[in-house]
Amino acid sequence: MCLTIPLQIKNISNGRAELSDGRLVGASLISDLKKGDWVLHTGDFLIKKIEAEEAREILELIDSYPGINLDEFPPKFKNILESTAERELSAQEIEYLLGIEDEQLLRAIYSQANTIRKLSIKDHICIHGIIEFSNYCRNNCLYCGLRSDNDIRRYRMSVEEIVDWAVWAAEDKGYKILVLQSGEDEYYDEERLLQIVRGIKSRCRVFIYLSIGDKPMETYAKLKVAGASGVLYRFETSNSELYAKLHPGDNLAERLDNIRKMKALGYIISSGPIIGLPGQTIKDLANDVELMRGLGVFMPSMGPFIPAGGTPLEQAKSGDFELSLKMIAVTRLAMPKARIPVTTAMETIGPADARHLAFMAGANSVMFNLTPEKYRKDYFIYNNKFFDRERRYEKWALFKGELSYKMLEDEIGVKI
Ligand code: 5AD
Ligand code: SF4
Repeated sequence: MCLTIPLQIKNISNGRAELSDGRLVGASLISDLKKGDWVLHTGDFLIKKIEAEEAREILELIDSYPGINLDEFPPKFKNILESTAERELSAQEIEYLLGIEDEQLLRAIYSQANTIRKLSIKDHICIHGIIEFSNYCRNNCLYCGLRSDNDIRRYRMSVEEIVDWAVWAAEDKGYKILVLQSGEDEYYDEERLLQIVRGIKSRCRVFIYLSIGDKPMETYAKLKVAGASGVLYRFETSNSELYAKLHPGDNLAERLDNIRKMKALGYIISSGPIIGLPGQTIKDLANDVELMRGLGVFMPSMGPFIPAGGTPLEQAKSGDFELSLKMIAVTRLAMPKARIPVTTAMETIGPADARHLAFMAGANSVMFNLTPEKYRKDYFIYNNKFFDRERRYEKWALFKGELSYKMLEDEIGVKI
């Protein structure tokens, strides 16, 4: 679930290998290794041999824009970019960078974001699997295809089905981080949710993010004790007026308060905005970045708005891919150590190489859809949802054994 940069074996003897970047690692876990082989490694061990062609593909995925000479740019811009490695970006600087449209300057922002990613979290690409276990929702968010007023076919997975599926994802496929997502569905009360989390944790070792919306805080507290480690709970927008318009009957202050309470319970937080909501401004987006930073979000989760059929916003303009890339890059500059996934929404509206472009702009993880095939198309948050190209990543990056857990635990800083 972590994909690392491929290296070649320079020398190998007595169970130790010297790699092309000069490092020495243990090579006892794989047999038949020889000089010239391409391998993936954790800090101290080789974990997988791969074909040269695969190494090339991975390297391409995490390559960077060619070096950019900042001296050619306006001094204000140059100063801001240069200082990102040493200090926090200010609110004004975040807004200034998000407002930039010039293509050359954008390239420079993406390139710097990628450099900062490499400096702060190296070339790890984390792979998350998401299981969407129910599309029932009591809420009526104006943008969402699952809103209660929308007439769609609804499904729910049983407690047993969810547990079995999660165990399959972890044990058979090798996923170590799972997101369990649903609409706000009251069918899953405290008892059922506890059965799900306990059921999974008793049968496999996996990091669980809950993405189930509002439940009593006491329930979240018990779920934490039962073994859930993270919550994916977006604030959607930092503009409280826009928030109130889009979420009938709800308010932003309460949402943020919940995030703080979840954090106090010890949850790792994934949160963020939708990008390109009708009426949202660049200043709002800059505030979104600041809010993620202020809340201590570990995994910024954000993606472009995509109009969903049957919703009040079905005719609204779609969010912009370039603006979403810019949000990734500026978030990386503002929060160097964040784990920034390329979300499904970005891949849905972006070009075929959206994932690659997002990595080159500072993203470092992906979210793969593991929802059972028969339910997938009913999880209709927005139109034309993207799912594809997961198999190769799974082959490269999912591996079993104690080392894979150690790698993740070092990454996240949480015992699994
Ligand atoms: N476009 C983009 N993102 C959406 N979400 C819901 N509807 C849309 C849409 N039309 C996002 C919300 C929610 C997450 C599960 O999906 O941010 O938190
Ligand atoms: Fe329900 Fe979430 Fe969709 Fe809102 S965004 S309608 S809470 S599924």
